[in-house]
Amino acid sequence: MKPKIIRGLPKLRKLVSGWKTAGEGVAVVPTMGALHDGHLSLARTACKAGDKVVVTIFVNPKQFNNPEDLAKYPRTEEADAAMLAPVGVDVIYLPSVDEVYPPGFSTNVTVGDVSKSLEGEFRPGHFDGVATIVAKLFLMTQADRAYFGEKDYQQLMVVRKMARDLNMPIDVIGCPTLREPGGLAMSSRNARLSAEERATAPALHIALQNASAAILAGAPVSTTLDTARQQLVAAGFGPVEYVELRSSAALEPMMVLDRPARLLAAAWLGKVRLIDNIAVG
Ligand code: PAF
Repeated sequence: MKPKIIRGLPKLRKLVSGWKTAGEGVAVVPTMGALHDGHLSLARTACKAGDKVVVTIFVNPKQFNNPEDLAKYPRTEEADAAMLAPVGVDVIYLPSVDEVYPPGFSTNVTVGDVSKSLEGEFRPGHFDGVATIVAKLFLMTQADRAYFGEKDYQQLMVVRKMARDLNMPIDVIGCPTLREPGGLAMSSRNARLSAEERATAPALHIALQNASAAILAGAPVSTTLDTARQQLVAAGFGPVEYVELRSSAALEPMMVLDRPARLLAAAWLGKVRLIDNIAVG
């Protein structure tokens, strides 16, 4: 059955309250649209769990620290709805900017610790914007479960921390990154790469894989991270904002592999900023 398209919050609330009265579980898959197979796989996982599933599509102005990035963010509502049609989700919720941020809106959710470095350092204010919209979407949908991709690993950690710190009654579920053949992590931003950049882009994942193999073989972490940065520059990336080894649980910097870890990187390819991360081991 085709998903119902809902734009206004009162309609969404009425539908969700009917589901809850009937004893149904509710899941939310928050997105900014420009959907790709990574999003569809989150939606499919949510459907398989047997909940009523709401996919939200909202290009959230508060999480863009760069106005050009916001202006250029792809908006593909019709194509998104067509992609979701065969998946089995129940609702596509498309709130307007005015509904989400009415005049006078002045509340922000700031998550400490995990939001401060990496993306938090290079995109000031980004995670306040993410935490605020995600908190709002959790409240709007009253969801019991929420699905996020590990592609934005730090975002997943920030949302988990927020939900835990604020006792939100929701399970935040992380799902594996989907990759193109060659290893490029699926992302809505990939659509903005030229053909030449698209051919270069898998080097980001390859640099992380090489670094992971070197660290697991006992190479010193700081030399390995330097090598990964150099590999990215040699491939055509620049600037390289970070390549770091962090603890998987709390994103603490690591110089020796003494607990479960993740390699995370952000680098520009032409005018497109790409991020990626992998588990080490
Ligand atoms: O990952 C995204 O697409 C966004 O950051 C999210 C979680 C939908 C919040 O706007």
